[in-house]
Amino acid sequence: MPGYRGVVRGSLVTVPLLTPRLQLRAYDAAADAAFVRDLYSREEVQRWIGDGTQRVRTLGEAREKIRRWQGLYSQHPVHGAWLVRTHERTRVGTVLLKPIPDSAADTAHDIEIGWHFHPHAWGHGYATEAAHAVLAHAFAAGLTRVVAVTHPANEASQAVCLRLGMTPRGLSRAYYDAECALFERTAPAAAPRGTCGEAPLTGAASSAAATEQKGTSDHG
Ligand SMILES: CC(C)(COP(=O)(O)OP(=O)(O)OC[C@H]1O[C@@H](n2cnc3c(N)ncnc32)[C@H](O)[C@@H]1OP(=O)(O)O)[C@@H](O)C(=O)NCCC(=O)NCCS
Repeated sequence: MPGYRGVVRGSLVTVPLLTPRLQLRAYDAAADAAFVRDLYSREEVQRWIGDGTQRVRTLGEAREKIRRWQGLYSQHPVHGAWLVRTHERTRVGTVLLKPIPDSAADTAHDIEIGWHFHPHAWGHGYATEAAHAVLAHAFAAGLTRVVAVTHPANEASQAVCLRLGMTPRGLSRAYYDAECALFERTAPAAAPRGTCGEAPLTGAASSAAATEQKGTSDHG
């Protein structure tokens, strides 16, 4: 994969984001490994991701997963792998914004958004709220189109897509060498000056200067 060398090079520039209930920041391999192991060891989380068989079983594997994300996405000004926490600092999940691999080719032309949340945090609207902030960040940064793909049977994830105002495009084999339900959202048109045009994705998140000391105060 381009950019991944197994180690983190350069500075991490993932933009922190705030929503009314949530904080999104770059993953920290030391501080967040236990959460990553807990989240990605679960059958109910992994069942619709990839072939459904992958599990993170150890803290070492969790740290490696975080470092891989950092190597791939965290040095990019727009892409990212965000840890999502409540303002009470309970870790609840992950939102990713990244190139999506084309089927049958070592290429990636489109950008996808994805979400993986801990079962204890399902049913609160957190995934939608966090992904809304990431979409707003993506469009504010100049992206014109973001896609999401789900397993055709993953109704919970498809419901998130619809809550986000993404348009269903039916089943597609364009990505991941697999048949997926495809959704897309295009950037809101800029409102003409002097009008009160709807801008539903621009005010949902603040791109906050990080107010936290990364990884210092929230170890289990
Ligand atoms: C996909 C996934 C993130 C969906 O999580 P979710 O909690 O159902 O999604 P949302 O954040 O949109 O929450 C919506 C639910 O919260 C409820 N809710 C409660 N309080 C709410 C609030 N204040 N605001 C909004 N919704 C609220 C909604 O009514 C809805 O419940 P319902 O599904 O019973 O109708 C979750 O199932 C998951 O992580 N699955 C495993 C990983 C996975 O499959 N990822 C996708 C791969 S493509």
